Amino acid sequence: MNKLKRFRSIKSRIISYYFITILITISLLGLLLWISVRGYYYKAMETILKDQVNLSTKFYSKYLNDSDVKRVYEDLEENFFSNLDVQVQILDKEGRVIWDDLGIIPGTKLEYIDIKKALVDETAVWVGKPDGSYSSNKIMSVSAPLKIDSNIIAVIRVVSSMDMVDKLLGRIAFLIISIVFIVIVITTILSLIISNTITKPLKKVTNVAKDMANGKYDVTLEKIYEDEVGTMAETLNYMAQEIKKNEKLKNEFISSISHELKTPLTSIKGWAVTLKLKEFTDLNQREKALDIIIQESKRLSLLVNELLDFSKFASSKMKVNLEDVNIEELLKDIILEMSPRAKRNDLELIYEISRVPIIQGDKNRLKQVFINLLDNSMKFIERQGRIHIKAEEKDGFVVIIIKDNGIGIKVEDLSKVKQKFYKVDPSKHGNGLGLSICDEIISLHGGSLDIVSKYGEGTEIKIKLKVSNS
Ligand SMILES: Nc1ncnc2c1ncn2[C@@H]1O[C@H](COP(=O)(O)OP(=O)(O)OP(=O)(O)O)[C@@H](O)[C@H]1O
Ligand SMILES: [Mg+2]
Repeated sequence: MNKLKRFRSIKSRIISYYFITILITISLLGLLLWISVRGYYYKAMETILKDQVNLSTKFYSKYLNDSDVKRVYEDLEENFFSNLDVQVQILDKEGRVIWDDLGIIPGTKLEYIDIKKALVDETAVWVGKPDGSYSSNKIMSVSAPLKIDSNIIAVIRVVSSMDMVDKLLGRIAFLIISIVFIVIVITTILSLIISNTITKPLKKVTNVAKDMANGKYDVTLEKIYEDEVGTMAETLNYMAQEIKKNEKLKNEFISSISHELKTPLTSIKGWAVTLKLKEFTDLNQREKALDIIIQESKRLSLLVNELLDFSKFASSKMKVNLEDVNIEELLKDIILEMSPRAKRNDLELIYEISRVPIIQGDKNRLKQVFINLLDNSMKFIERQGRIHIKAEEKDGFVVIIIKDNGIGIKVEDLSKVKQKFYKVDPSKHGNGLGLSICDEIISLHGGSLDIVSKYGEGTEIKIKLKVSNS
């Protein structure tokens, strides 16, 4: 179902929402305005007519007697309605015309509601189109009873054409509609401008994102506005940079791996070929050659293991199998294992390992960490090398410190050495994976690995592992 959703651009959405909202509100306002103006004019007209009629009926009821009724109209015209453009009628008790200044035949019976109401003693108004032929326009009529001694003897009715008022109202309506139209045009233009400020940068971002998807990471987006789209542009730029950086690291990694693999393989192959030669009979030399082959194979398998670890850790599949680990024993074993290499490289291994509590950990993984760290120390040391290994219990933690007086790490590199593939000196042996794997293993143990280093003086790695309470 969702797939069938019709594509609607942000622009058309913004414009139509604006358009509909403004159209509805402004039309309602216009209508309201027109209704109240119309009501005002009609009411004013009604008041004027009523006042005049009431005044005249009061006047005549005071100064007339029954017999004078037929004379009333002459006076009426002159005195009360001379300044109003109205028609005056006098009707008898049955609603028949007695006199009319537009010439309706006397005796015609009129059936308008205002007349009927006047005959039951009420001043009443009627608005509408009169039947009969004398006018086809809308009129307003007001009728009032003419009473003598509280007997209704006739009805005085004034009729006014609504032409003028309706024409005026028509003009006002036209004005209101024009304003509504102008406002709608203006808001449509404005919403067009606003939506352009959104959609244009979005389009740019989309195009650049498409380029990036096609592998062009060199494009950068300029940030036009300080808004969500601007942030998006920034994020995209950042992403492209990161991808570029990763790409570079990956390439370096591949070449360094290839190099790492090539060296032992060449040596193994070389010695194997030599061993096969018939002339090569010296047993001593044979032994040496085999030693080299074994050693190089070990190096290869170490390298492959590291790669496997890395891929596990990159896909977050690395797990630790917890068991009781005696750190003291573990470290002493490792030192024993590493001493020949230390001796070969003329390095001093000093250790100070106290009795520490048993911890819960993965023995093989922890061994891997310490070997990695010692390997680093031995690798990045120059002469008169000294490596201190210390382990002690402190505040519920087993703290292991490996400290060397090697070349150290510059401040600007310190934050990066834990990143995968990062090597300060790319020409050195190694893949730049050791520290990132160590860090990962230690954090899988819930511990911490901190590096303190001073360039030219040495490096200290501090590992803290929690002592389990049980
Ligand atoms: N003890 C140290 N003294 C000086 N520099 C170090 C030390 N340990 C690590 N470094 C620096 O940090 C970088 C990253 O170390 P890491 O162990 O992750 O990689 P590597 O030793 O180069 O390769 P790998 O461990 O994968 O064989 C090293 O290349 C080195 O530049
Ligand atoms: Mg290393």
